[in-house]
This record gives sequence, C-alpha cells and structure tokens, in this order.
Amino acid sequence: MVRTTVSVIKADVGSVAGHVCPTISMVEYAKKILEEGRETGIVKSFYVYSVGDDVGLVMTHHKGENNPEIHELAWKVFKEITEKISKPLKLYAAGQDLLKDAFSGTVKGMGPGVAEIEFEERGSDPIIVFAADKTSPGAWNLPLYKIFADPFNTAGLVIDPVLHEGFIFEVMDLREGRTAKLKTPEESYDLLSLIGTTNRYVISKVYRAKDNEPAASASTTRLSYIAGKYVGKDDPVLIIRAQSGLPAVGEILSAFAVPFLVPGWMRGSHYGPLMPVSFKKKQNVVSYFDGPPRVIAMGWQIAEGKLVGVDGVEPVDLFEDPFWDTVRQKASEIALYMRTMGEFMPARIEQEEMEYTTLPKVLEKLSSRFIEVKP
Ligand code: F6R
Ligand code: MG
Ligand code: MG
Repeated sequence: MVRTTVSVIKADVGSVAGHVCPTISMVEYAKKILEEGRETGIVKSFYVYSVGDDVGLVMTHHKGENNPEIHELAWKVFKEITEKISKPLKLYAAGQDLLKDAFSGTVKGMGPGVAEIEFEERGSDPIIVFAADKTSPGAWNLPLYKIFADPFNTAGLVIDPVLHEGFIFEVMDLREGRTAKLKTPEESYDLLSLIGTTNRYVISKVYRAKDNEPAASASTTRLSYIAGKYVGKDDPVLIIRAQSGLPAVGEILSAFAVPFLVPGWMRGSHYGPLMPVSFKKKQNVVSYFDGPPRVIAMGWQIAEGKLVGVDGVEPVDLFEDPFWDTVRQKASEIALYMRTMGEFMPARIEQEEMEYTTLPKVLEKLSSRFIEVKP
C-alpha cells in the first residue's frame, strides 16, 4: 500500500506595510514554482496560502517525511521569491526566515517552519492544516491537549471505543534537543507538567494509542534558538487528521473556541489571545499592535496522494462560520485588556525569552548605573 505524505513548509520572506502581509505576486510566484514541481512529478498536488506575513506551501506526495527533493523545492520557492520579488521591491524584512545560504538536504534548522505527516490513506481521509502568525510553536500545546486528551473538549474520548484507548504525545524539549513519548489518559498529569512550559516543551507529534496511527504533526522551529537572537516569530503550522476513530473536525475546532493567550505579538515580546480568523474574508491582516496573534484553519480530503478541496485544491475555510465572530469579538476584548498592562509582566513575556529580543541592548546601557549593595 502506498503511503501519502502531507508536507507544510512556511517562511516569512518579506511583507508589505511592515510585518503585515506578503504581496499577491509572492503567492503567485510560489504557485508557479510548485506547478513546475507537480509537472516534473516532485509533488502530486499543492496549495499556497498566506497568514499575516507568512507564505505557506502545502504539498502532497509519496516520498515520506524529510525528503530532500520536497525540502529543496520549498527552499527554491522562498529563495527565488526573496531574490526576485522581496529584495527588488524592498519589502519589509526581505528573506527574513532564510537563515542559511546554501541548501543542505533539509530545511530543518535553516529557518522555514516544517510540519509533515505520513500515513496510509483510509477509505476517506479528512485533514486540517492550521497556520498561525505572530506566535511560537508552544501555542499548539493547549489545543492539542484539549483535542486528544480532554473529554470536556472531545466527546469521542468518552463515546468512541477507538478514541477511548487514548493517544501518545511526542514532546520535544527545545532547549536540550530531545524527545519523550507520553500516553494519555494514564500519563495526563505528567504530560501537563511538561507542556505547560510552552517555551521549552512542545508537542511535535500525536499518535493513536490503539494502533500507533499518526494523528497530528506540528512545526517546532525556534528561529531565535537557531540564530541566537530575535529574528521574528516562528509562526507555527499544525496538521491534524480527523474522523473515523480520530477526533471529529468539530471537536478539533472546538479547542479554539476560547481565545487562549500565546507568546509573540508585538516584537515577539507579549502575550496575546490567539484569534481564529477566516482567510476568505481576508481577516488575516495583522493590524492591532502587530496582531493580535491569529490562526487560520484549512480543511481538505486526501485522495490518492492529492488534496481535494471544495473547488479543486481550494480548502474549506473552517473559521468562516459566523459562530467564530463571537470568538473574534472576545479575542479583541482580551487583546485590549492585555494592552492596558503595557510593558508589565505577565503581559510582557518572561525575562528569559526577552533575551532574544532587542531589550538586552537597552539594559546594557543601564548596567553602569547600578552600584553594589549587600543583599
Ligand atoms: C512580530 C514582529 C513585529 C516586529 C515589530 C518591530 O513577530 O515581527 O511585531 O517585531 O514590528 O519590527 P522592527 O524591529 O523590524 O521595526
Ligand atoms: Mg515579518
Ligand atoms: Mg509572521
């Protein structure tokens, strides 16, 4: 049986009006290169999206995860967009996420964010790709826990005998570069003790416990850890498979119904609510204090290695439902409230994380002003 892989690779390689959104020509250029890749058989199908200032490539193929040909195609897209569009037009932060010069077999560790999932196609295989802007990978910890381990979110954990057996979470320790697997519901408390620390432990994969079926895959890139300084937010992506013994699409989306706080937003230095937005209604223009952080959800079926959308590869815009207007309203209220705190913690992110921003330069100037005292 052939296995299908969905690869999502994204980068911020420049935008208009500051860090707001890419040009339409950038998205069109990406489509042109991926179409060439489709004609030469590198990918079977593809879709290009944008969220905030990020451009994302959703590609399907049979080559497995971390395939050099797929990664090289994505690298070529971002490199050429930078050289041919972002730099000549002096777009803001042109080529920002391309941290290395030459491609070396994988885009991992080179700046772009990657999430990939390989599976044997079921009789019918719905998937959702989430893409966020102005936040970092730990943002997915809370919704992933709710989707796969919280019966107050996912009724199937109680009602469906397959989900009832639980899930296995792969947790990545970004500081130490190591992973551990924990099984829910048995190890829920242990899992929570790790993933509550969202800037260090991030969920990278989720598997169904019954048969190890891959259920979710998230990007884990921390640009600041690669570059050693602040170079923009990582703006993570997440792929989740749904239905027939996996959480239903509606259960997956429910995890976003209360806008939880995520790190990022202005200068990557503030906590703000994650706002679910519609890409069809063009709600992904980040305008209040460079935000608030936001997420889009694209829904497809996968058939014979290809994306099937509502019109060709055009995905369902899952946050278009008017239900989400209430959630957006709530997110706006939370955003305004958080801003009343200005630069005071906990509205501003913790000291440790601020080390990757421009704040240390300000503090350096003040260091000579301190005089020693006995504690
Ligand atoms: C957040 C982000 C922006 C910038 C901010 C300052 O991820 O990219 O909020 O940090 O607009 O940008 P510079 O320093 O480039 O003027
Ligand atoms: Mg940017
Ligand atoms: Mg961005």
